Amino acid sequence: MLIDWNSSLVLGDARIDQEHQDLVALINQFYEMLHRGAHRDDLCGVAFTLAEQVTQHFNNEADLMVSVHYPGVLAHQREHKMLMGELGAFLHRVEQEDDCELRNVITFIKDWFTTHVTTADAQFVKFLQDNTLCSEPSDEPPLAEML
Ligand SMILES: [Fe+2]
Ligand SMILES: [Fe+2]
Repeated sequence: MLIDWNSSLVLGDARIDQEHQDLVALINQFYEMLHRGAHRDDLCGVAFTLAEQVTQHFNNEADLMVSVHYPGVLAHQREHKMLMGELGAFLHRVEQEDDCELRNVITFIKDWFTTHVTTADAQFVKFLQDNTLCSEPSDEPPLAEML
C-alpha cells in the first residue's frame, strides 16, 4: 500500500472525504499492480480511471468553491491544473516506460495528493465548515427581543 488512509486525510466533509478515499484506493491499486508486474493494458486501464476520477473530483471541488464564493478559488485551481498536467504526462508514460520509472511517477502523484489534501483542501473544508455554521439558524432569540 502506497497511501495509508488515516485520520490526517479526513477533512470532515463527507462528499470530499469519500472522493479522496476513492482516489487513494485507485493510487494504491495502481501501485500494487505495478509491484506484482501486472499487464501493461491493465495498468493503462487503472491509470485512465484514476485520471478520469481526479478530473471529476477537481470539477466537483471547483463547482462547490464557486457556489460558496470561496476567496481562494484561483490559487486552488492553479494547484489542480498543475496535477492535471502531470497526469496527462503520466498517462503517456504508463504506455511507454518501465515499471521502475512508473513507481517514481506514482510516488510523485502520491506526494502531491497528500500535500494538497492536507493543505489546500483542508483550508477549503475549514472555510465550508465556518460558513455553514454562520448560516445555520440560531436557537437564540433575535437580539431585539433580548433588549
Ligand atoms: Fe480534493
Ligand atoms: Fe483540491
